[in-house]
Amino acid sequence: MAIMNIRIIGDPVLRTVAEPVTEFGPELAKLVADMTETMEDVDGAGLAAPQVGVSKRVFTYRIGGVEGHIINPVLENSEDFQPDEVEGCLSIPGLGFPVRRRRATRVTGVDLHGNPVTVDGEGMLARCFQHETDHLDGILFTDRLEGEARKAALRSIRNANYDAITERTTSKRAKTVGSSFGGGSFGGGSFGAAE
Ligand code: NI
Repeated sequence: MAIMNIRIIGDPVLRTVAEPVTEFGPELAKLVADMTETMEDVDGAGLAAPQVGVSKRVFTYRIGGVEGHIINPVLENSEDFQPDEVEGCLSIPGLGFPVRRRRATRVTGVDLHGNPVTVDGEGMLARCFQHETDHLDGILFTDRLEGEARKAALRSIRNANYDAITERTTSKRAKTVGSSFGGGSFGGGSFGAAE
């Protein structure tokens, strides 16, 4: 297994709609293993394949002791919303804003062997599934913000000089990113991690 480089906002792969997975071989198994290891390394709550530069519909998650991966996810969201919670994103280091998300989500997809998977989530798990599936569609959580929060987020992104951050490499930087969210971001400290 290996720790992968996390792509930062400004990288086109984060704005590309990811391709469905059609081959369930060792390459996919390695991707899932590497993504899981990378997510754990940065103490993240989730990671989508485009965040490690792979434009495939795969994400891993790790919420409240529940860990797994979903390939080719399809979401069924509840009509109603959950209370806004601050989210962060490993691809937008240092930023955290409350995001409106659906209360409950059922995700269906397959695992790395191609076997069907269904997971029902509420609260943080549902939030994570929505955040990660957005990544597969080229959507970042800042796109979900409105009004003043959106303006503040875009201003922060402009000022952050992420292009310079992108130059640096992997696990060392990734660890910094992870700790920068410690206790803060997504989840109000309940699991204190970024996706
Ligand atoms: Ni994210």
